[in-house]
Amino acid sequence: MSTNIESHLIEKRVFKPAKEFSKKAQISNFADYKKLHAESVKSPEKFWAKEAATLKWTKKWTRVLDWKAPFAKWFVGGHLNASENCLDRHLEGPRRNKAAIIWEGEPGERRTLTYHQLHREVCVFANILKRNGVKSGDRVLIYMPLIPEAVIAMLGCARIGAVHSVVFGGFSSESIKDRILDSGATVVVTADGGYRRGQIVSLKQNVDHALQGVEQVRRVIVFRRTHLDIHIQEGRDVWWHREAEYVDAKCPPHPVDSEHPLFILYTSGSTGKPKGILHTTGGYLTGTASTTKYVFDLRENDVYWCTADVGWITGHSYLVYGPLANGATCVLYEGAPNWPEPDRFWKIIAEFGVTILYTAPTAIRAFMKWGDEWPKKHDLSSLRLLGTVGEPINPEAWMWYHKHIGEGRCPIVDTWWQTETGAIMISPLPGATPLKPGTATLPFFGIDAAIVDDKGKEVGPNEGGKLVIRKPWPAMLRSIYGDKPRYRKQYWSEVKGCYFTGDGARRDKDGYFWIVGRIDDVLNVAGHRLGTAEVESAIVSHHDVAEAAVVGRPDELKGQAVVAFVTLRSGYKASNELAEAIRRHVAHAIGPIAKPDDVRFAESLPKTRSGKIMRRLLKQIASGSAITGDTTTLEDFSVLTKLRASDE
Ligand code: WTA
Repeated sequence: MSTNIESHLIEKRVFKPAKEFSKKAQISNFADYKKLHAESVKSPEKFWAKEAATLKWTKKWTRVLDWKAPFAKWFVGGHLNASENCLDRHLEGPRRNKAAIIWEGEPGERRTLTYHQLHREVCVFANILKRNGVKSGDRVLIYMPLIPEAVIAMLGCARIGAVHSVVFGGFSSESIKDRILDSGATVVVTADGGYRRGQIVSLKQNVDHALQGVEQVRRVIVFRRTHLDIHIQEGRDVWWHREAEYVDAKCPPHPVDSEHPLFILYTSGSTGKPKGILHTTGGYLTGTASTTKYVFDLRENDVYWCTADVGWITGHSYLVYGPLANGATCVLYEGAPNWPEPDRFWKIIAEFGVTILYTAPTAIRAFMKWGDEWPKKHDLSSLRLLGTVGEPINPEAWMWYHKHIGEGRCPIVDTWWQTETGAIMISPLPGATPLKPGTATLPFFGIDAAIVDDKGKEVGPNEGGKLVIRKPWPAMLRSIYGDKPRYRKQYWSEVKGCYFTGDGARRDKDGYFWIVGRIDDVLNVAGHRLGTAEVESAIVSHHDVAEAAVVGRPDELKGQAVVAFVTLRSGYKASNELAEAIRRHVAHAIGPIAKPDDVRFAESLPKTRSGKIMRRLLKQIASGSAITGDTTTLEDFSVLTKLRASDE
């Protein structure tokens, strides 16, 4: 029996880049992309050295790469500073008074910081850190709302060589505590609170709980955002604005070694214990700066909006380091997309004249569910490019995004990458790559991606297998913080000599990569291995459906039965007839093999706070077993209770 993943859903729609768009693009035709990619994969070091040279180095590297698998050092011997590259570099020319950050708080207030102002604020904060005893290499935990100070805190750390570890403001005290203990952070930066859906989230209080019984944290720096009444522990807690009175705005950047750690970002492993993904300075900055330039085809007057929170890798790479290294104008919005109404995003786009929007499929599916009338109310004509990241985007969601947000005019870059990869790995280049809804298309320059079978052999067109990367790249993780054996085992042992992504994928006849889901989630129905993404896409292509997640449930006859959890678009009702119609719809789109045995309607699906569906939990619900493992990353716990209740 073959263990390879089968593919049945073939997408035929193709969207070629518009001439108008290509004319001005960084890479303006497909042949150029192919040629440059082939060259860059033949000599990746040459390509990356050229990209690294666009940054400011205070000491040039002596070797591009030192690769002792699975440990890489990039730009060996080079010195640079990430904050200098994101700020100081832009102060000498016309970007000095260009907006770096245009921010909107959830209650509606606005602030704009030019590069000059942002630089000043970062210097002040770096001096606050120094004043509070933070030194190069020290770990600083950042737990902030999405306000300019979150970015200022990150860049302030980078300026003095301190290592930041940002914890998403929606996480609990328990998560903060775990991350403080694992990273050995001695200083925490937080705010009294932040706004979310009209409520104040009491961030400082969560920090207080997290720090109970934790001795190692000597300082908590608190930014005043909401004027919420908070507890200040004498000798440990200080106010940001008070500290600012004692320091000046002069703080020369501290050059660090290219391999000096820039940050640790925790990602929850499927088994529970969070992994501290370690990224270093020179390679990471090279990877993020280069991909931002080419994938978002950045132009000087773009107004760029990445909707991710700084608590995720997308926020690190494409809200802070990548765009600021390129001198871009970035929009930052603190709150929820449906506050006070489901058109908040479209309002922001119209008011700020956003030209590039980068968001997640989960958000797009939510917008679809809320209805087409919301974007229609606003002028979205400033948009020229759209992007997605985080999950496979179902072709129907892609089409909706293309039609209702991009108004048929904007290319969509579906970008595949991971916290571990640091930067975008597989993505269209918008002026060059013909698009097909649902695929991240082709690898970025210097990235050697492949799909292999269980023996590590590359598979043929439309055969499913494991997605691997065959050569090191600059923005790759360097280790799991404090756990090299786990790093080796998790990423470099599954397929010999390759980085294993954990994702299943196939390449179509044009070589495009289609992610079919996490390998751990692959269904095995009567000996056929099916990726979750295709079955879900088939379900979502039914008119009434907003979102779907499929999982396997043990079945004596078939090995696994397919259970589909489905949410409906506004105004549609669950019924047995609809369940039957959805089953027939899947059988028609993919084949009887993928027909769900069970269709269960739900109000919402359990998701991580970054919007990924937690199939692990759904598997447990589908098979009627107890929920085990880490649930702290779950966005809304009541979803689980409701799903269980609907089961009885
Ligand atoms: C999934 C987010 C399909 C994938 C930057 C990956 C995607 C995991 C895509 C990493 C995409 C991300 N198409 N799947 N365009 N982008 N994924 O670490 O399973 O939060 O391995 O990084 O998300 O998630 P992470």
